[in-house]
Amino acid sequence: MTKRRLVIAIDGPAASGKSTTARLAAEQLGYMHIDTGAMYRAVTLKVLRAGLSSDDSAAIAKMLSGTRVGLTRSESGLAVFLDGEDVTSAIRTPAVTRAVSAVSSQKAVREAMVREQRAMGRDGGIVLEGRDIGTVVFPKADLKFFMVAGIRSRAQRRHKELAERGEKIPLEHLEREIADRDSRDASRAESPLRRAEDAIEIDTSDLTIEQQVDLVVRIAKEKIEKESAG
Ligand code: DC
Repeated sequence: MTKRRLVIAIDGPAASGKSTTARLAAEQLGYMHIDTGAMYRAVTLKVLRAGLSSDDSAAIAKMLSGTRVGLTRSESGLAVFLDGEDVTSAIRTPAVTRAVSAVSSQKAVREAMVREQRAMGRDGGIVLEGRDIGTVVFPKADLKFFMVAGIRSRAQRRHKELAERGEKIPLEHLEREIADRDSRDASRAESPLRRAEDAIEIDTSDLTIEQQVDLVVRIAKEKIEKESAG
């Protein structure tokens, strides 16, 4: 009997360890990894480049009809394409990070991205990470995780990531930025950041990446085994 390929949802606030965990867990399971935050960042980059205001819903909706966002696996992780251009680094700038919450709260943006995400996950064998995967995109996902971590450890994680790229930003500044983004993502009207009732919560404050990945992979494998036995 062929084993069923699951849809795994990983949600949580900014810098909670979702991306790395989702990428490595997907690799170990032989699944596709979809970073939905990267998709919202790519749309935001296009909005900024076009000089549109983040809350101009009519102009953004019009822009979306000619927009293609794609994700492909590359040697160094996930490569993100906007209308055929590789924007993997361009979507990580502070300007995009500042504008992404406002752009991603637009109804038209969410509808377009959710449609694509559902199409990508149709056949299972996928780990999707974001803010609304277990609540809106795949409310019937086979497994749902909600990753949380204290603000200090999330800021430290982001600080280290940025330092590795040669960017020095004070820890307090990062703490403020993460807290602001959390509150915008959690308080918006459209698909706010929320833990699904049936999600397994993982507090990553004191876990290593390896421990986080092991936990997700172990629970996924247990579910797959149990289903093929029964
Ligand atoms: O995961 P990230 O920090 O790269 O996500 C960037 C932003 O995209 C985040 O602040 C909110 C938005 N986002 C969203 O609204 N829904 C998702 N499923 C994923 C991200």
